[in-house]
Amino acid sequence: TRRVRTRDLIAAKERGERWPMLTSYDQYTAAIFDQAGVPVLLVGDSAANNVFGYETTLPVTADELLPLVRAVVRATRQALIVGDLPFGSYEEGPTQALRTAVRFMKEGGCHAVKLEGGRRCAAQIAAIVGAGIPVMAHIGFTPQSEHTLGGYRVQGRGDAADEVLADARAVAEAGAFAVVLEMVPGEVAKQVTHELPIPTVGIGAGPATDAQVLVWQDMAGLRTGKAPRFVKRYADVAGALTDATRRFADEVRGGEFPAAEHTF
Ligand code: KIV
Ligand code: NA
Repeated sequence: TRRVRTRDLIAAKERGERWPMLTSYDQYTAAIFDQAGVPVLLVGDSAANNVFGYETTLPVTADELLPLVRAVVRATRQALIVGDLPFGSYEEGPTQALRTAVRFMKEGGCHAVKLEGGRRCAAQIAAIVGAGIPVMAHIGFTPQSEHTLGGYRVQGRGDAADEVLADARAVAEAGAFAVVLEMVPGEVAKQVTHELPIPTVGIGAGPATDAQVLVWQDMAGLRTGKAPRFVKRYADVAGALTDATRRFADEVRGGEFPAAEHTF
């Protein structure tokens, strides 16, 4: 088997086939998701929250993300790996954006990059695509702009639907191979999906998008506590790990571990 290519994803859209995408930040999850047949893995800047423990995605740097990108690439055979450009690494303009994207391709070894922003980042997308690097765009709610957007809020309600549509058209025209739609009304996502020739990847955007993405710790229930409405937990990894940890600790304290079979 070979790696998934961006053209495979566009062909899937033409055939009306939906596909899943997950974040991954380390070799074990990357290998599991790859072997389970997830065609696209994103080394998201959500590593800021989900790996490094920052409050927002803003502090994470390319230097922090690149080793995670390398780990995910090394552990996979089939998935197309997308590296997420962190806040501050592309906003200055096409030159800065291309420089960072080149770093992700050369040092990270990923197959595409992602950045946040619609019309305002069209020039950056065009410059990166012009250098032969595939770009996944990200519009609607963009976490790196949360201080402007006023927190985690649905974007594109009512008249603001036109803004989302204009951003979607702009990123497709600039050459993006796919676009993430985060926290937009299902009807708006449906309209964008029907209008654009490139795949839409929804997160909190309803069932009409061509693909769906979740942060893996949300999907697998490693992150506990209140989750956003768009999250579905498919496992209780936090519960399983807590249980395993308690039993290990109890057996050490009780002298049951290690037993004869664990001893040389
Ligand atoms: O960083 C991330 O996890 C993302 C996805 C949720 C789209 O950008
Ligand atoms: Na991200």
